[in-house]
Amino acid sequence: MTAWDFSHRRAATAPLNRRDWHRMALSLALAPWCALAGAQSGAKPSASGPRWQADPFGLGVASGQPRPDSVVLWTRLRISEADAALKGQTLSVVCEVFADAAMRQPVRQWTVQTDARRGHSVHVVATGLQPARPYWYRFVCGTAHSPVGRARTTPGVNDAVDRLRLALASCQHYEQGYFLAHREMAQRDLDLVLFVGDYIYESSNPQHLLRPHQGGVPKLLDEYRERHAQYKSDADLRACHAAHTWLMTWDDHEVVNDYANDLDRHFTDAQVFLRRRAAAYQAYFEHMPLRLGPDPVNRSQMRIHDRMAWGRLADVWTLDCRQYRDHHACPDPNRGGGRVVMGCDALADPARSMWGAAQEQWLNQGLLSSPRRWKLVAQSTQMSSSGVNTPLGRSAFTDGWDGYPQARAQFLNSVAQAGVPNVVVLGGDVHMNVAAQLRVQPNDERSPVVASEIVTTSITSRGLGEKLLAQIRESNPDILHARSDERGFTVLDVRPDTLQAEFVTTPYPVRPDSVFKTQAQYLVRSGVPGLQKV
Ligand SMILES: [Fe+2]
Repeated sequence: MTAWDFSHRRAATAPLNRRDWHRMALSLALAPWCALAGAQSGAKPSASGPRWQADPFGLGVASGQPRPDSVVLWTRLRISEADAALKGQTLSVVCEVFADAAMRQPVRQWTVQTDARRGHSVHVVATGLQPARPYWYRFVCGTAHSPVGRARTTPGVNDAVDRLRLALASCQHYEQGYFLAHREMAQRDLDLVLFVGDYIYESSNPQHLLRPHQGGVPKLLDEYRERHAQYKSDADLRACHAAHTWLMTWDDHEVVNDYANDLDRHFTDAQVFLRRRAAAYQAYFEHMPLRLGPDPVNRSQMRIHDRMAWGRLADVWTLDCRQYRDHHACPDPNRGGGRVVMGCDALADPARSMWGAAQEQWLNQGLLSSPRRWKLVAQSTQMSSSGVNTPLGRSAFTDGWDGYPQARAQFLNSVAQAGVPNVVVLGGDVHMNVAAQLRVQPNDERSPVVASEIVTTSITSRGLGEKLLAQIRESNPDILHARSDERGFTVLDVRPDTLQAEFVTTPYPVRPDSVFKTQAQYLVRSGVPGLQKV
């Protein structure tokens, strides 16, 4: 990797205030991306390199995993048949970073090589940046240039910061709706997008088929690549990546529904399944702005869990609920995966884990030592109980946290015992907005509230029916709010004294002309565990 450093020009760059930044953000979000890139000046792309017959940058650009001095910048060249001769070549891609939206103040540029072994993906860890400010970037390869993206760095880890605004999102089944929520997020004034899983879906539901997946259920690397590429063919998803820096983790559908560690729901031999998991993880990495890809020694392993500080205001953990979990308790031997059970003794086993021992320990140590005001624990699914009381006993859905109740109690107990204040658990997966109190003993008023939970509804994926949801509400007084009928995202407005969650939704089905509104808002006050309705 070679770099040309334009840092001597940085002095000319005055820090942007929030209003300037938002104005530029809006103008950028509303601009036609390609035209903008073509119109700007800045570092000259290399005239050498391939002469493209078709645009290789159709999958867009993205930024992620920010730090005070760096951010990951991503693109992937998609080489069409018109340029087939380039498919086997190693290609040089220039990544240019600018300090201004007009792209007249170059900061740095990098030249990286990519080839077919990594799906022609490009990951640049842009370093040497200043904290708490936006940057604009694009990629150039021969005669082609990418759309422009905007990235931002985090504040210095010990800086006093008065605000973090992030959008929490998950579950975007391509077939079940348009990505209007991404269009809406792209145009909003946000510091980050936090996506907590089910970015792609491997499977189809013929009952809800607004726009079909291409190809069958992916199992091989090229098949997962095609699925990711189809999702990124959506202009609204590309716009949201280009407009904001993302934090992300995955859930199951990035590989296959209801997988647990090395086991799928068909009880496939672990070595066979791990080859599929390796292909899915590789394709995921190739399409995301991530610092780390699959482990070079064991390609079926990939670390995605991470921790990001936002000044002294917040720590954000993004956790992995799939790769390290124990297998489902009491599975149906004919079906596998998660199911609704009653009277499953394995649920009482204190050794069963959702995060795996190493990740649990890493999280607990981080939580206990964090000097930051807010501790946001982002993970894939709903932590509060959603069991239903029946004449035969209480039900538990074994794929969610109700399938790992001892691990949940141990986590919340460690928060309670250490007196860690201001823990807010964030999740997705269940295709409904949930606001809930978290207690060591769920729904037991004698067990104090120790943390708060906000779960976001899906971008598109269909939610539970109202009849079952009413039973869930009835059986779980800790759930203050549960709505599965609308799609959207959740804006978290984090300030030193309060954290406010706004469920931003549009009625199902998602239509191209849908309008977003506030479904409900909940507030946490610093030092007071639990949510209040606003
Ligand atoms: Fe989902």
